Amino acid sequence: MNATGDIALVIFGVTGDLAHRKLVPALYQLELDKQLPKNLHIIGFARRDWSDEKLRSEMGAAVREFARTQPVDEQALDRVLKHMRYLASNFTDDSGYRELAKQLEELGAKNRLFYLATPPDAYTRIISSLGKARLGKSADGWTRIVVEKPYGRDLESAKQLEDEIHQVFDEDQIYRIDHYLGKETVQNILVFRFANGVFEPLWNRRYVECVQITVAETIGVDGRTEYFDGAGVIRDMLQNHILQLLTLTAMEAPVAFTADAVRDEKVKVLHSLHPLRGDDAIRNTLRAQYSAGIQNSRKIDAYLDHEGVARNSTTETLLAMRIHIDNWRWAGVPFFIRSGKHLAKRMTEIAVQYKQTPLALFGARNLAGDAPNRLVISIQPYEGITLTFGAKAPGPENTIESVKMDFSYAETFGASTPEAYERLLMDCLNGDATLFTRSDEVLAAWTFVDDVLKAWSQHPVKKLPQYKPGTWGPQEIDQFMHEHGSAWREH
Ligand code: BG6
Repeated sequence: MNATGDIALVIFGVTGDLAHRKLVPALYQLELDKQLPKNLHIIGFARRDWSDEKLRSEMGAAVREFARTQPVDEQALDRVLKHMRYLASNFTDDSGYRELAKQLEELGAKNRLFYLATPPDAYTRIISSLGKARLGKSADGWTRIVVEKPYGRDLESAKQLEDEIHQVFDEDQIYRIDHYLGKETVQNILVFRFANGVFEPLWNRRYVECVQITVAETIGVDGRTEYFDGAGVIRDMLQNHILQLLTLTAMEAPVAFTADAVRDEKVKVLHSLHPLRGDDAIRNTLRAQYSAGIQNSRKIDAYLDHEGVARNSTTETLLAMRIHIDNWRWAGVPFFIRSGKHLAKRMTEIAVQYKQTPLALFGARNLAGDAPNRLVISIQPYEGITLTFGAKAPGPENTIESVKMDFSYAETFGASTPEAYERLLMDCLNGDATLFTRSDEVLAAWTFVDDVLKAWSQHPVKKLPQYKPGTWGPQEIDQFMHEHGSAWREH
């Protein structure tokens, strides 16, 4: 429902990192682009003993540091800060929520967006307190709630969170964020596939040899080890971001570009993932951890030496996986996934690798296994799409070289692409849930991941392979691909 009237955005945990680095800079950017509604009030709700003034000065500094476009336009920033106020309360304290209800009344804010930017252990307390304070619905406006990841830590806890949230909110009020869906290049996967006639006919098991999805990072987990050691790449990246990339790559065309039609197709892919259980899970996954080393002239401590990490931890900082999709389009096509911290470079991409020609007409000079046709969707930091194919190198012989056709966002559309949170915040305010994860989607993703987690705990290992920071992982990751009859795309 899109009602008229004032809107309140209530950020729980406004004193935290997410609000500083992402949410408030995104609000500023929206104001700068004249997209932010004029009648928006921003209420920061958190435990610390801050005043309105303190909130404004903290958030002003955060925007100056993290805004996407620099230098900051002080007038636009002022307009955002002017709409901010602070409510100091414990997340369990009923009186804080009564005060919130009172302030919403006073502001005349009938439309309400509650944003949970807190550690996940506070989610259920906030949700039930909102329910108790009768803030789950608004009499003549809309009420929505945004929940950040991690959405549960396994299937069981995700189901529990689902039960609790549905006691207060209906499904169409709930916006589960996966910030990868807010990235322009991720949204372009669907446009690329379904707005063009030329690629889709080749997007299936008849022509595709394999798909490789890489989400490589150069940063580590120092500073957030407590969370990460209980999560690993499988919960931190695969359950959400990577499975989202996979579903967008593999899904069928939706019947319409509406929130439910798109999500219906994504869920079907998740339901078709071949379950990885027992030995099958062990054969099709590879885990590793970074050791001590030097990366970009910086000394990196080994994962196991970080404070907050158990000395015998087997939490992976690098994960490779072979996934199959048991459906008509993809049967038999492996989707290879790899994601890790402290790898050689920051790079997220989806590489669709095509089969060889049926006959090697040009003999040994034919495009060989190491230079196949590839369509690469580059998500970040390079944003673009590249098609690799063979061309005859000039000269008397038929020597074939691998060449590229390249589309670059920066060259075509200019340098600064909007940040994911700008798009996602606007979508929440406008009530468009297309880029948010639906209940059945989250549970289907956890169902797949849960099997793998179970298999790992049933086949415990003493120590994971170690890799040097700044590399593409231990030699076992290449071995893993070799055993599955493939090789990672080189960079
Ligand atoms: C977060 C993970 O969800 O995504 C982090 O918790 C990870 O561990 C981050 O670094 C990656 O996001 P991006 O947008 O930098 O690729």
